[in-house]
Amino acid sequence: MTDLLDASDAVGFSTRQVHSGAEWHDAPARALPIYLTAGFRFDDFDHAAHHFQTGAGFGYTRTGNPTIEALERRLAGLEGGADAVFVASGQAAVSIALLGLLSAGDHLVCSTHIYEGTRGLLLDNLGRLGIEVDFVDDIADPDAWRLATRENTRAYFAESISNARNDVLDIAAIAAVADERALPLVIDNTFATPYLLRPIEHGAAVVVHSASKFLAGHGAALGGALVDDGRFDAARSGALFPHLVSADRSGAPSVWERHGARARIAYIRESTAPRLGPTPSPLNAFLVAQGIETLSLRVREQSGNALAVATWLAAHPAVESVDYAGLAAHPSHDVALRYLPRGFGSVFTFTLRGGEPAARAFVESVRVITHMTHLGDVRSLVLHPGTTSHAHHSEQNRLALGVHPGTLRLSIGIEDVDDLTADLERALTAATAAGTGERVLEVLV
Ligand SMILES: Cc1ncc(COP(=O)(O)O)c(C=O)c1O
Repeated sequence: MTDLLDASDAVGFSTRQVHSGAEWHDAPARALPIYLTAGFRFDDFDHAAHHFQTGAGFGYTRTGNPTIEALERRLAGLEGGADAVFVASGQAAVSIALLGLLSAGDHLVCSTHIYEGTRGLLLDNLGRLGIEVDFVDDIADPDAWRLATRENTRAYFAESISNARNDVLDIAAIAAVADERALPLVIDNTFATPYLLRPIEHGAAVVVHSASKFLAGHGAALGGALVDDGRFDAARSGALFPHLVSADRSGAPSVWERHGARARIAYIRESTAPRLGPTPSPLNAFLVAQGIETLSLRVREQSGNALAVATWLAAHPAVESVDYAGLAAHPSHDVALRYLPRGFGSVFTFTLRGGEPAARAFVESVRVITHMTHLGDVRSLVLHPGTTSHAHHSEQNRLALGVHPGTLRLSIGIEDVDDLTADLERALTAATAAGTGERVLEVLV
């Protein structure tokens, strides 16, 4: 193999420093190579034209990159989907998934129990684009979804395991309601991961992830993923999604004519993602792909630890309640047993008897558990939703969402469970002292 410019070429130093060694062996690396490049050299004139006409091969990293593509194949395989698109964050994955489906004047039916960033996207950002949303509180009731559905509804959205109440969605039941109107059910599967639950197997059409969480696991990179079932049926749903079945601006065949049942994700890959542009770094794609290689080991360990910790907390006198679907007392426990046979995940909330003063003392006393806003990490993490993620809600809304003044969210990691309970005991002792102090003060006042 020769360099584009040979060492013998009589060129100046500045030219040599950017062109020498510009060609290298494409060796079959066993670990995923990181193609950290903005773009790719075209072989010749026709190659460039062909790439722009068909999208085949690689031209520019915003429209395709071998490292990112390898991760996308892995994600599609794990979720049992036809294809996947990897983007820069989970927030981008939700945005891209919904903007690939919805147009101005369309309506979304959405679970009330969702990540606050998603709620903001729907209400503030998509709302401004003329996309309407109605929320379903009782997500276990298929009729509640049916009743919220309108003529202009184009999709349903929910989380497989919800934040903060840990409700587990009966995906098959809600997918069946969506299918009555040929609508896709989009599931945010961040909390469950494909190791515990694969929504497409239960009838979901699209799955989204914050890959920054369990998929990466190390907390070193952000990323987001969207996986499609590849079962778009133009005969049933074509009229609902004209952008998938109509000829494009230049009169070229529609996405459906070119990609058939993969039309939804093909449109997102060709149009939504590259135009809106939340392109991930190939380095981050590599970091997420590395994380995924140990997903089952981590999630199995984390779920076991979480069940042990939740059980331990439920028996502690300083704790008022524990919202973990793995516990028999949780309203979703029966659904969880059906959908999560390998474990119930590692993120859940619990509520201290001493209210906010107890929560403050708790987060300031932990030493093994880290106080931060993240989840799905190999390290255990804690956050007080009432004064952080859910602070902008009215108190009444917070309570409806399961966020009380003494509620804390835990994301349990892979540490030794005895070290976690020792840390929790220390923090609960501090919380009890602080909570009691506050109560005495209230009585005095
Ligand atoms: C359920 C869920 N979906 C989406 C997101 C957004 O992901 P990211 O932070 O990677 O943008 C989060 C982030 O916490 C989340 O918890």
